[in-house]
Amino acid sequence: MSGLYDAIRSVAARYPESRSAILPALRLAQQEHGGWLPPEAFRDVAEALELTPAYCRAVASFYDMFHLEPVGRHMVEVCTNVSCALVGAQQVLEAFEGELGVAAGETTPDGEVTLRTVECAGGCGWGTVVVVDHRYHEPVRPEDVAEIVRELRDAS
Ligand code: FES
Repeated sequence: MSGLYDAIRSVAARYPESRSAILPALRLAQQEHGGWLPPEAFRDVAEALELTPAYCRAVASFYDMFHLEPVGRHMVEVCTNVSCALVGAQQVLEAFEGELGVAAGETTPDGEVTLRTVECAGGCGWGTVVVVDHRYHEPVRPEDVAEIVRELRDAS
């Protein structure tokens, strides 16, 4: 058995029913598969938890932190929900699109950065909120974007 299988079984042992470990199992599988969940990841999780791959995929599809398509090494998430929209989220998003050369939902050709929108990052009083690799930047204005991208590129 693989290291992933053993890791999932180990997590599942902490729960009364192994199916309850599906979220941490999916997280482990996503780490193992380079930041996203290809079909074999669902087979791995299903085998370890005695579920079906379709069930595992259905659960993953509900949560924003699971990626069903390949993503870049870095993730830039711009909140475009109403509180952020009212203070210029669209302009911030367009600044990122211009700086990175991709549209929202796309990854840069070098595979480094995925840009996407999110529905609410939970920082509504400090919009526009931008989350870069799980780190919050708030508030972000269009004129801040070049510096954020420069820092991201330097960290690569
Ligand atoms: S609306 Fe942007 S953080 Fe909530």
